[in-house]
Amino acid sequence: MSVRHLVRELSGVILLFVSTAAVSGGDPSVANLLEALGLTSRPPLDGTAFRMQGPFFDKNLSADGAHSCASCHMPSQAWSSDQLSVGKLTRAVPSLYGAADKQYFFWDGRAASLEAQVMEVLENPAEMNSSRLLVARYALDNGRPIASCRPTTHGLADELTSLAPSQLTASESRRLYLGLDLESRSEVDKSFACVAHLIADYVRSIPIPRTVWTSAPKRKNDIDPSVWRGAVVFAGKGRCATCHYGQSFSDGQFHNIGIANVNEVDISDPGRFSAVQSMRQNEYNLLAKTYYPSRVAETEFNVSEEMWGAFKTPSLIGLSKRHKFMHNGRFGSIGEVVDYYDTLKLAVVPTHHYVGLLSPLNLSQEERADLIAFLNSL
Ligand code: HEC
Ligand code: HEC
Repeated sequence: MSVRHLVRELSGVILLFVSTAAVSGGDPSVANLLEALGLTSRPPLDGTAFRMQGPFFDKNLSADGAHSCASCHMPSQAWSSDQLSVGKLTRAVPSLYGAADKQYFFWDGRAASLEAQVMEVLENPAEMNSSRLLVARYALDNGRPIASCRPTTHGLADELTSLAPSQLTASESRRLYLGLDLESRSEVDKSFACVAHLIADYVRSIPIPRTVWTSAPKRKNDIDPSVWRGAVVFAGKGRCATCHYGQSFSDGQFHNIGIANVNEVDISDPGRFSAVQSMRQNEYNLLAKTYYPSRVAETEFNVSEEMWGAFKTPSLIGLSKRHKFMHNGRFGSIGEVVDYYDTLKLAVVPTHHYVGLLSPLNLSQEERADLIAFLNSL
Protein backbone atom coordinates (compact mmCIF):
# COMPACT_ATOMS: atom_id res chain seq x y z
CA MET A 1 0.00 0.00 0.00
CA SER A 2 1.47 3.36 -1.01
CA VAL A 3 1.86 6.09 1.61
CA ARG A 4 -0.64 8.21 -0.28
CA HIS A 5 -3.17 5.42 -0.26
CA LEU A 6 -2.54 4.73 3.41
CA VAL A 7 -3.21 8.38 4.18
CA ARG A 8 -6.48 8.18 2.22
CA GLU A 9 -7.49 5.08 4.14
CA LEU A 10 -6.67 6.63 7.48
CA SER A 11 -8.46 9.87 6.73
CA GLY A 12 -11.46 7.73 5.74
CA VAL A 13 -11.41 5.99 9.10
CA ILE A 14 -11.14 9.28 10.95
CA LEU A 15 -14.02 10.75 8.97
CA LEU A 16 -16.18 7.75 9.78
CA PHE A 17 -15.35 8.18 13.43
CA VAL A 18 -16.17 11.88 13.37
CA SER A 19 -19.35 11.31 11.40
CA THR A 20 -20.90 9.01 13.95
CA ALA A 21 -19.59 11.06 16.87
CA ALA A 22 -20.64 14.45 15.51
CA VAL A 23 -24.34 13.98 14.90
CA SER A 24 -25.48 11.32 17.33
CA GLY A 25 -28.17 12.84 19.55
CA GLY A 26 -29.53 16.40 19.45
CA ASP A 27 -29.23 19.02 16.76
CA PRO A 28 -25.60 19.46 15.66
CA SER A 29 -23.91 22.78 14.93
CA VAL A 30 -23.36 23.71 11.27
CA ALA A 31 -19.63 23.05 11.69
CA ASN A 32 -20.26 19.59 13.15
CA LEU A 33 -22.71 18.67 10.42
CA LEU A 34 -20.34 19.78 7.65
CA GLU A 35 -17.57 17.78 9.28
CA ALA A 36 -19.79 14.70 9.50
CA LEU A 37 -20.53 15.01 5.77
CA GLY A 38 -16.82 15.36 4.98
CA LEU A 39 -17.32 18.88 3.61
CA THR A 40 -14.80 20.81 5.65
CA SER A 41 -11.96 20.87 3.14
CA ARG A 42 -13.14 22.09 -0.22
CA PRO A 43 -11.09 22.36 -3.39
CA PRO A 44 -11.76 25.59 -5.31
CA LEU A 45 -14.90 25.27 -7.40
CA ASP A 46 -13.80 27.46 -10.22
CA GLY A 47 -15.46 26.82 -13.56
CA THR A 48 -12.35 28.09 -15.30
CA ALA A 49 -10.79 24.72 -14.47
CA PHE A 50 -12.90 23.46 -17.38
CA ARG A 51 -10.44 22.28 -20.00
CA MET A 52 -10.76 21.71 -23.69
CA GLN A 53 -14.18 20.16 -24.29
CA GLY A 54 -13.80 18.99 -27.90
CA PRO A 55 -13.42 15.21 -28.00
CA PHE A 56 -15.93 14.55 -25.19
CA PHE A 57 -18.69 15.98 -27.37
CA ASP A 58 -17.35 14.83 -30.74
CA LYS A 59 -19.30 12.05 -32.50
CA ASN A 60 -16.43 11.62 -34.95
CA LEU A 61 -14.66 9.64 -32.26
CA SER A 62 -17.12 6.76 -32.70
CA ALA A 63 -16.73 4.55 -35.76
CA ASP A 64 -20.27 5.16 -37.05
CA GLY A 65 -20.26 8.85 -36.11
CA ALA A 66 -23.38 8.21 -34.02
CA HIS A 67 -22.17 8.59 -30.41
CA SER A 68 -20.04 10.88 -28.36
CA CYS A 69 -19.27 10.51 -24.67
CA ALA A 70 -21.98 13.11 -24.09
CA SER A 71 -24.64 10.90 -25.75
CA CYS A 72 -24.66 8.86 -22.54
CA HIS A 73 -23.05 11.29 -20.10
CA MET A 74 -25.32 14.29 -20.63
CA PRO A 75 -24.38 17.49 -18.81
CA SER A 76 -28.10 18.25 -18.28
CA GLN A 77 -28.59 14.90 -16.51
CA ALA A 78 -25.65 15.23 -14.10
CA TRP A 79 -23.32 13.74 -16.76
CA SER A 80 -25.39 10.57 -16.76
CA SER A 81 -28.54 9.37 -18.54
CA ASP A 82 -31.20 6.70 -18.15
CA GLN A 83 -30.46 4.91 -21.37
CA LEU A 84 -29.82 1.37 -20.24
CA SER A 85 -30.99 0.37 -23.69
CA VAL A 86 -28.20 2.04 -25.72
CA GLY A 87 -26.03 -0.60 -27.32
CA LYS A 88 -25.63 -3.73 -25.25
CA LEU A 89 -25.12 -1.99 -21.94
CA THR A 90 -25.95 -4.05 -18.89
CA ARG A 91 -25.12 -1.41 -16.32
CA ALA A 92 -26.53 2.05 -15.66
CA VAL A 93 -24.64 5.14 -16.82
CA PRO A 94 -22.89 6.67 -13.79
CA SER A 95 -22.58 10.41 -13.19
CA LEU A 96 -19.07 11.78 -13.80
CA TYR A 97 -19.03 14.20 -10.86
CA GLY A 98 -16.12 13.71 -8.52
CA ALA A 99 -14.08 11.56 -10.92
CA ALA A 100 -10.94 13.57 -10.15
CA ASP A 101 -10.51 12.13 -6.69
CA LYS A 102 -11.35 8.48 -7.38
CA GLN A 103 -8.82 5.67 -7.67
CA TYR A 104 -10.95 3.20 -9.58
CA PHE A 105 -13.46 3.61 -12.39
CA PHE A 106 -16.59 1.79 -13.57
CA TRP A 107 -19.13 0.40 -11.13
CA ASP A 108 -16.82 -2.52 -10.42
CA GLY A 109 -13.62 -0.43 -10.51
CA ARG A 110 -12.00 -2.54 -13.20
CA ALA A 111 -10.03 0.47 -14.49
CA ALA A 112 -7.25 1.68 -12.20
CA SER A 113 -6.91 5.13 -13.78
CA LEU A 114 -9.23 7.45 -15.64
CA GLU A 115 -7.07 7.03 -18.74
CA ALA A 116 -7.45 3.21 -18.60
CA GLN A 117 -11.20 3.78 -18.25
CA VAL A 118 -11.41 6.07 -21.29
CA MET A 119 -9.34 3.70 -23.45
CA GLU A 120 -11.70 0.86 -22.63
CA VAL A 121 -14.79 2.93 -23.42
CA LEU A 122 -13.34 4.04 -26.76
CA GLU A 123 -12.77 0.44 -27.85
CA ASN A 124 -15.92 -1.05 -26.32
CA PRO A 125 -18.43 -2.00 -29.08
CA ALA A 126 -21.34 -1.19 -26.72
CA GLU A 127 -20.02 2.31 -26.04
CA MET A 128 -17.92 4.30 -28.52
CA ASN A 129 -17.19 1.30 -30.77
CA SER A 130 -14.03 3.02 -32.03
CA SER A 131 -10.53 1.55 -32.39
CA ARG A 132 -6.96 2.60 -31.68
CA LEU A 133 -6.29 3.15 -35.31
CA LEU A 134 -9.39 5.30 -35.75
CA VAL A 135 -8.39 7.41 -32.78
CA ALA A 136 -4.85 7.89 -34.19
CA ARG A 137 -6.44 8.96 -37.46
CA TYR A 138 -8.74 11.32 -35.50
CA ALA A 139 -5.59 12.96 -34.07
CA LEU A 140 -4.28 13.46 -37.61
CA ASP A 141 -7.58 14.99 -38.77
CA ASN A 142 -7.77 17.57 -35.96
CA GLY A 143 -5.95 20.73 -34.98
CA ARG A 144 -4.44 21.57 -31.62
CA PRO A 145 -4.53 20.38 -28.88
CA ILE A 146 -5.60 16.99 -30.30
CA ALA A 147 -2.91 17.35 -32.97
CA SER A 148 -0.31 16.97 -30.20
CA CYS A 149 -1.35 13.29 -30.16
CA ARG A 150 -0.51 12.64 -33.83
CA PRO A 151 1.74 9.67 -34.66
CA THR A 152 5.18 11.12 -35.46
CA THR A 153 6.44 8.56 -37.99
CA HIS A 154 5.80 10.07 -41.42
CA GLY A 155 5.20 6.79 -43.23
CA LEU A 156 2.58 5.76 -40.68
CA ALA A 157 0.91 9.18 -40.66
CA ASP A 158 0.65 9.11 -44.46
CA GLU A 159 -0.70 5.56 -44.40
CA LEU A 160 -3.40 6.50 -41.86
CA THR A 161 -4.36 9.70 -43.68
CA SER A 162 -4.87 7.86 -46.96
CA LEU A 163 -7.28 5.28 -45.52
CA ALA A 164 -10.55 5.15 -47.49
CA PRO A 165 -13.92 5.45 -45.70
CA SER A 166 -14.51 1.70 -46.18
CA GLN A 167 -11.35 1.03 -44.14
CA LEU A 168 -12.55 3.24 -41.32
CA THR A 169 -15.24 1.00 -39.90
CA ALA A 170 -14.63 -0.38 -36.41
CA SER A 171 -13.99 -3.96 -37.51
CA GLU A 172 -11.89 -3.10 -40.56
CA SER A 173 -9.71 -0.64 -38.66
CA ARG A 174 -9.11 -3.24 -35.92
CA ARG A 175 -8.02 -5.72 -38.59
CA LEU A 176 -5.69 -3.15 -40.17
CA TYR A 177 -4.15 -2.37 -36.77
CA LEU A 178 -3.28 -6.03 -36.22
CA GLY A 179 -1.59 -6.07 -39.63
CA LEU A 180 0.84 -3.26 -38.67
CA ASP A 181 4.42 -4.01 -37.60
CA LEU A 182 5.13 -3.78 -33.85
CA GLU A 183 6.75 -0.36 -34.04
CA SER A 184 3.81 1.19 -35.90
CA ARG A 185 1.38 -0.46 -33.52
CA SER A 186 3.21 1.07 -30.61
CA GLU A 187 3.00 4.51 -32.31
CA VAL A 188 -0.75 4.04 -32.77
CA ASP A 189 -1.07 2.93 -29.12
CA LYS A 190 0.71 6.07 -27.94
CA SER A 191 -1.49 8.30 -30.05
CA PHE A 192 -4.58 6.51 -28.73
CA ALA A 193 -3.43 6.85 -25.11
CA CYS A 194 -2.64 10.54 -25.69
CA VAL A 195 -6.19 11.31 -26.88
CA ALA A 196 -7.56 9.29 -23.95
CA HIS A 197 -5.43 11.42 -21.63
CA LEU A 198 -6.93 14.64 -23.05
CA ILE A 199 -10.43 13.27 -22.53
CA ALA A 200 -9.59 12.06 -19.02
CA ASP A 201 -8.25 15.52 -18.17
CA TYR A 202 -11.53 17.01 -19.29
CA VAL A 203 -13.54 14.57 -17.17
CA ARG A 204 -11.35 15.41 -14.15
CA SER A 205 -12.06 19.11 -14.66
CA ILE A 206 -15.88 18.83 -14.51
CA PRO A 207 -16.73 21.12 -11.59
CA ILE A 208 -19.27 20.21 -8.94
CA PRO A 209 -22.22 22.64 -9.35
CA ARG A 210 -22.73 25.28 -6.71
CA THR A 211 -25.34 24.42 -4.08
CA VAL A 212 -25.90 25.39 -0.48
CA TRP A 213 -23.36 22.67 0.42
CA THR A 214 -20.58 24.08 -1.74
CA SER A 215 -21.14 27.63 -0.50
CA ALA A 216 -19.71 27.01 2.98
CA PRO A 217 -22.90 27.77 4.95
CA LYS A 218 -22.14 29.41 8.28
CA ARG A 219 -25.57 29.49 9.92
CA LYS A 220 -28.37 26.96 10.13
CA ASN A 221 -30.67 29.65 8.66
CA ASP A 222 -28.67 29.48 5.40
CA ILE A 223 -30.16 26.02 4.81
CA ASP A 224 -33.80 25.12 4.11
CA PRO A 225 -35.21 23.54 7.33
CA SER A 226 -36.29 20.28 5.68
CA VAL A 227 -32.93 19.96 3.87
CA TRP A 228 -31.16 20.58 7.17
CA ARG A 229 -33.16 17.88 8.98
CA GLY A 230 -32.54 15.52 6.05
CA ALA A 231 -28.79 16.13 6.31
CA VAL A 232 -28.96 15.27 10.00
CA VAL A 233 -30.76 11.99 9.15
CA PHE A 234 -28.18 11.31 6.43
CA ALA A 235 -25.20 11.78 8.75
CA GLY A 236 -26.87 10.38 11.88
CA LYS A 237 -29.72 7.86 12.07
CA GLY A 238 -29.44 6.90 8.36
CA ARG A 239 -25.69 6.20 8.61
CA CYS A 240 -25.44 7.18 4.93
CA ALA A 241 -22.28 9.25 5.48
CA THR A 242 -20.43 6.08 6.45
CA CYS A 243 -19.98 5.48 2.71
CA HIS A 244 -21.26 8.68 1.08
CA TYR A 245 -19.05 11.49 2.36
CA GLY A 246 -16.76 14.21 1.04
CA GLN A 247 -17.06 16.54 -1.94
CA SER A 248 -18.84 14.05 -4.17
CA PHE A 249 -20.44 12.02 -1.35
CA SER A 250 -18.54 8.84 -2.14
CA ASP A 251 -15.75 6.99 -0.32
CA GLY A 252 -14.64 5.57 -3.70
CA GLN A 253 -14.72 2.08 -2.13
CA PHE A 254 -16.73 -1.06 -2.94
CA HIS A 255 -19.64 -2.43 -0.92
CA ASN A 256 -22.32 -5.04 -1.45
CA ILE A 257 -25.57 -3.35 -0.40
CA GLY A 258 -27.78 -6.20 -1.63
CA ILE A 259 -29.16 -4.72 -4.87
CA ALA A 260 -30.92 -7.51 -6.78
CA ASN A 261 -31.28 -7.67 -10.56
CA VAL A 262 -34.09 -5.68 -12.11
CA ASN A 263 -37.37 -7.69 -11.74
CA GLU A 264 -35.56 -10.49 -9.96
CA VAL A 265 -34.56 -11.48 -6.49
CA ASP A 266 -30.96 -12.44 -7.10
CA ILE A 267 -27.60 -10.78 -7.76
CA SER A 268 -25.97 -12.23 -10.85
CA ASP A 269 -23.36 -9.51 -11.41
CA PRO A 270 -20.28 -10.40 -9.34
CA GLY A 271 -19.11 -6.74 -9.47
CA ARG A 272 -15.77 -6.08 -7.80
CA PHE A 273 -15.04 -9.80 -7.44
CA SER A 274 -14.57 -10.48 -11.14
CA ALA A 275 -13.23 -6.97 -11.86
CA VAL A 276 -10.18 -7.52 -9.70
CA GLN A 277 -9.40 -10.66 -11.65
CA SER A 278 -9.86 -8.96 -15.02
CA MET A 279 -7.62 -6.07 -13.94
CA ARG A 280 -4.65 -8.38 -14.14
CA GLN A 281 -5.28 -8.91 -17.84
CA ASN A 282 -6.18 -5.32 -18.73
CA GLU A 283 -3.53 -3.89 -20.99
CA TYR A 284 -3.76 -0.44 -19.47
CA ASN A 285 -3.64 -1.27 -15.78
CA LEU A 286 -0.76 -1.22 -13.39
CA LEU A 287 0.50 -4.74 -13.88
CA ALA A 288 0.69 -4.48 -17.66
CA LYS A 289 1.82 -2.00 -20.25
CA THR A 290 0.70 1.36 -18.99
CA TYR A 291 1.04 4.87 -20.32
CA TYR A 292 -0.57 6.66 -17.41
CA PRO A 293 0.24 4.76 -14.24
CA SER A 294 -2.50 4.42 -11.68
CA ARG A 295 -2.05 5.11 -8.00
CA VAL A 296 -2.99 1.55 -7.14
CA ALA A 297 -0.61 -0.82 -5.35
CA GLU A 298 -0.11 -4.36 -6.60
CA THR A 299 -1.70 -5.86 -3.49
CA GLU A 300 -4.98 -4.23 -4.49
CA PHE A 301 -5.28 -6.78 -7.26
CA ASN A 302 -5.81 -9.63 -4.80
CA VAL A 303 -9.31 -11.08 -4.76
CA SER A 304 -11.21 -11.59 -1.53
CA GLU A 305 -14.66 -13.08 -0.97
CA GLU A 306 -16.39 -9.97 0.35
CA MET A 307 -15.79 -8.37 -3.05
CA TRP A 308 -18.57 -10.51 -4.47
CA GLY A 309 -21.56 -8.35 -5.50
CA ALA A 310 -19.76 -5.18 -4.34
CA PHE A 311 -19.95 -1.99 -6.42
CA LYS A 312 -18.32 1.41 -6.13
CA THR A 313 -20.15 3.89 -3.92
CA PRO A 314 -21.53 6.35 -6.50
CA SER A 315 -21.31 10.12 -6.21
CA LEU A 316 -24.59 11.73 -5.10
CA ILE A 317 -24.06 15.09 -6.82
CA GLY A 318 -26.87 16.18 -9.15
CA LEU A 319 -29.23 13.35 -8.06
CA SER A 320 -32.33 15.47 -8.72
CA LYS A 321 -31.49 15.53 -12.45
CA ARG A 322 -31.39 11.74 -12.75
CA HIS A 323 -33.92 8.93 -13.11
CA LYS A 324 -32.04 5.62 -12.83
CA PHE A 325 -30.21 4.57 -9.73
CA MET A 326 -27.86 1.75 -8.68
CA HIS A 327 -25.44 -0.21 -10.88
CA ASN A 328 -28.28 -1.91 -12.75
CA GLY A 329 -30.66 1.06 -12.79
CA ARG A 330 -33.00 -0.86 -10.55
CA PHE A 331 -34.68 2.19 -8.96
CA GLY A 332 -36.48 4.89 -10.93
CA SER A 333 -36.72 7.63 -8.28
CA ILE A 334 -34.94 8.90 -5.19
CA GLY A 335 -38.03 7.91 -3.18
CA GLU A 336 -37.54 4.28 -4.22
CA VAL A 337 -33.89 4.42 -3.16
CA VAL A 338 -34.83 5.82 0.25
CA ASP A 339 -37.56 3.16 0.66
CA TYR A 340 -34.94 0.53 -0.05
CA TYR A 341 -32.51 1.76 2.60
CA ASP A 342 -35.42 2.30 5.01
CA THR A 343 -36.91 -1.20 4.78
CA LEU A 344 -34.25 -3.28 2.95
CA LYS A 345 -37.22 -4.96 1.28
CA LEU A 346 -35.98 -7.38 -1.44
CA ALA A 347 -32.36 -6.92 -0.33
CA VAL A 348 -30.30 -9.94 -1.31
CA VAL A 349 -28.34 -11.24 1.62
CA PRO A 350 -26.27 -14.14 0.33
CA THR A 351 -25.36 -16.73 2.90
CA HIS A 352 -21.78 -16.62 1.68
CA HIS A 353 -19.43 -13.89 0.43
CA TYR A 354 -21.21 -11.24 2.43
CA VAL A 355 -20.38 -8.73 5.10
CA GLY A 356 -23.62 -7.31 6.59
CA LEU A 357 -23.44 -3.55 6.17
CA LEU A 358 -26.96 -2.21 6.43
CA SER A 359 -29.94 -2.66 8.73
CA PRO A 360 -33.47 -1.27 8.28
CA LEU A 361 -33.75 2.36 9.42
CA ASN A 362 -37.47 2.57 10.32
CA LEU A 363 -37.73 6.23 9.35
CA SER A 364 -40.81 8.30 10.20
CA GLN A 365 -42.77 9.88 7.29
CA GLU A 366 -41.14 13.22 8.09
CA GLU A 367 -37.60 11.82 8.24
CA ARG A 368 -38.16 10.09 4.92
CA ALA A 369 -39.39 13.33 3.28
CA ASP A 370 -36.50 15.30 4.81
CA LEU A 371 -33.92 12.79 3.59
CA ILE A 372 -35.34 13.05 0.07
CA ALA A 373 -35.22 16.88 0.30
CA PHE A 374 -31.56 16.64 1.32
CA LEU A 375 -30.67 14.25 -1.52
CA ASN A 376 -32.40 16.60 -3.97
CA SER A 377 -30.28 19.49 -2.67
CA LEU A 378 -26.93 17.92 -3.61
C1 HEC B 1 -23.35 4.08 -24.84
C2 HEC B 1 -23.27 4.85 -23.62
C3 HEC B 1 -21.90 5.35 -23.18
C4 HEC B 1 -20.99 6.07 -23.92
C5 HEC B 1 -21.07 6.48 -25.37
C6 HEC B 1 -19.91 6.40 -23.00
N1 HEC B 1 -20.18 5.91 -21.75
FE1 HEC B 1 -19.06 6.18 -20.08
N2 HEC B 1 -20.16 4.81 -19.13
C7 HEC B 1 -21.29 4.20 -19.62
C8 HEC B 1 -21.69 3.13 -18.73
C9 HEC B 1 -22.90 2.22 -18.89
C10 HEC B 1 -20.73 3.11 -17.69
C11 HEC B 1 -20.67 2.11 -16.53
C12 HEC B 1 -20.12 0.79 -17.06
C13 HEC B 1 -19.65 -0.15 -15.99
O1 HEC B 1 -19.46 0.27 -14.85
O2 HEC B 1 -19.42 -1.33 -16.29
C14 HEC B 1 -19.79 4.20 -17.96
C15 HEC B 1 -18.74 4.55 -17.12
C16 HEC B 1 -17.94 5.66 -17.32
C17 HEC B 1 -17.00 6.20 -16.35
C18 HEC B 1 -16.73 5.66 -14.95
C19 HEC B 1 -17.28 6.57 -13.88
C20 HEC B 1 -16.98 6.07 -12.51
O3 HEC B 1 -17.20 6.81 -11.55
O4 HEC B 1 -16.53 4.94 -12.34
C21 HEC B 1 -16.38 7.27 -16.93
C22 HEC B 1 -15.31 8.17 -16.33
C23 HEC B 1 -16.93 7.37 -18.28
N3 HEC B 1 -17.89 6.40 -18.47
C24 HEC B 1 -16.51 8.30 -19.22
C25 HEC B 1 -16.85 8.19 -20.58
C26 HEC B 1 -16.14 8.87 -21.65
C27 HEC B 1 -14.97 9.81 -21.45
C28 HEC B 1 -16.75 8.52 -22.82
C29 HEC B 1 -16.36 8.87 -24.23
C30 HEC B 1 -15.03 8.48 -24.63
C31 HEC B 1 -17.86 7.63 -22.46
N4 HEC B 1 -17.87 7.44 -21.10
C32 HEC B 1 -18.78 7.12 -23.37
C33 HEC B 1 -21.95 4.55 -20.77
C34 HEC B 1 -21.36 5.23 -21.83
C1 HEC C 1 -22.18 0.51 3.16
C2 HEC C 1 -22.03 1.68 2.34
C3 HEC C 1 -23.25 2.51 2.02
C4 HEC C 1 -24.16 3.07 2.90
C5 HEC C 1 -24.16 2.98 4.41
C6 HEC C 1 -25.11 3.77 2.08
N1 HEC C 1 -24.80 3.63 0.75
FE1 HEC C 1 -25.81 4.45 -0.79
N2 HEC C 1 -24.71 3.33 -2.07
C7 HEC C 1 -23.64 2.52 -1.72
C8 HEC C 1 -23.26 1.71 -2.87
C9 HEC C 1 -22.11 0.70 -2.89
C10 HEC C 1 -24.15 2.04 -3.89
C11 HEC C 1 -24.21 1.38 -5.29
C12 HEC C 1 -24.78 -0.03 -5.07
C13 HEC C 1 -25.15 -0.80 -6.32
O1 HEC C 1 -25.35 -0.20 -7.38
O2 HEC C 1 -25.24 -2.04 -6.22
C14 HEC C 1 -25.03 3.08 -3.38
C15 HEC C 1 -26.01 3.74 -4.12
C16 HEC C 1 -26.76 4.82 -3.66
C17 HEC C 1 -27.59 5.67 -4.47
C18 HEC C 1 -27.77 5.56 -5.99
C19 HEC C 1 -26.85 6.52 -6.70
C20 HEC C 1 -26.64 6.24 -8.16
O3 HEC C 1 -25.89 6.98 -8.81
O4 HEC C 1 -27.20 5.25 -8.69
C21 HEC C 1 -28.18 6.59 -3.64
C22 HEC C 1 -29.12 7.71 -4.04
C23 HEC C 1 -27.70 6.30 -2.31
N3 HEC C 1 -26.83 5.23 -2.35
C24 HEC C 1 -28.08 6.98 -1.15
C25 HEC C 1 -27.82 6.50 0.13
C26 HEC C 1 -28.52 6.94 1.31
C27 HEC C 1 -29.63 7.98 1.34
C28 HEC C 1 -28.01 6.22 2.36
C29 HEC C 1 -28.46 6.22 3.80
C30 HEC C 1 -29.86 5.92 4.02
C31 HEC C 1 -26.96 5.35 1.82
N4 HEC C 1 -26.90 5.54 0.46
C32 HEC C 1 -26.20 4.49 2.57
C33 HEC C 1 -23.05 2.47 -0.48
C34 HEC C 1 -23.68 2.86 0.70
